[in-house]
Amino acid sequence: MLEVRQLHPLFMGEVSGVDLGRPVDPDTLAALVAALDRHAVLVFHDQFIDDEQQLAFSRLLGPLETTRQAHRPAVKLRLHVGVSDVSNLDENNRLLQGEDYRRMSGLANRLWHTDSSFKRTPAKYSLLSARILPSWGGETEFADLRAAYDALPQRKQAAIEHLVAEHSIYTSRAKIGFTDFTEAERAALPPVPQVLVRRHPGSGRKGLYLASHADAIQGMPLPEARMLLLDLIEHATQRQFVYQHRWRLGDLVIWDNRCTMHRQREFDLAEVRDMHRTTVADTAPTLEQEGRTATAA
Ligand code: OGA
Ligand code: MN
Repeated sequence: MLEVRQLHPLFMGEVSGVDLGRPVDPDTLAALVAALDRHAVLVFHDQFIDDEQQLAFSRLLGPLETTRQAHRPAVKLRLHVGVSDVSNLDENNRLLQGEDYRRMSGLANRLWHTDSSFKRTPAKYSLLSARILPSWGGETEFADLRAAYDALPQRKQAAIEHLVAEHSIYTSRAKIGFTDFTEAERAALPPVPQVLVRRHPGSGRKGLYLASHADAIQGMPLPEARMLLLDLIEHATQRQFVYQHRWRLGDLVIWDNRCTMHRQREFDLAEVRDMHRTTVADTAPTLEQEGRTATAA
């Protein structure tokens, strides 16, 4: 029997009574989606699943993102191509060292973001499974972007209602001085337009759509756009909107990328942290979902 306990005054549910390693029936799945629509993030404890089980469950939630996680073609993958490697290990299960591309990419996960907003059609859900945990740190924090939107003064809500931001993976990387990308890499992932305010289909609630990938805003001077984005991210990540998840081995956390941001917290990079992520793609570009014609990026 599925039960959900809310862990934060605004969002975040702890689910019990489901074994994700076994086929999930349609009624249970519908109840889980309803709980996600309500709580935005769900944690399931004691799910000691392998990648095949994680992929099988994830596929029930929609088509998975298939893009290689490494945006650099030469990087060798440690895991199945449908599973994102959220670890500090190389393809031989050794700790990443120095300026390794994957180590630098991993560090950028500590910036507030929502997954794949740098893709025209971004991620809907992410599912993260804890396989090996470090002795301290490495928590994941989530910010409730629907509650953050609700808390804005009405004049601000009106002012940002129709704005369109440009998101790029290279924007967030540049924020930590990670700029070592070729022209070919940059050309493969050009900035994409994303609405700044979106309506969450399952709840009907409006929310901010923000990430450290966001840079410019269409039709706005760049300094004004960056200041607005900085202010909104600062607003949305005030403590009252944030839940910190302290991982236990076997935890699986699902979050709805359409109405939350998340970030990883510091841990000792000399210790192993091995997390496996599967990602469910959204159904359409955000401009299309909002019924607005996509303008050129
Ligand atoms: C992710 C991510 C945060 C973490 O998997 O998309 O941002 O704490 N992870 O590992
Ligand atoms: Mn992420």
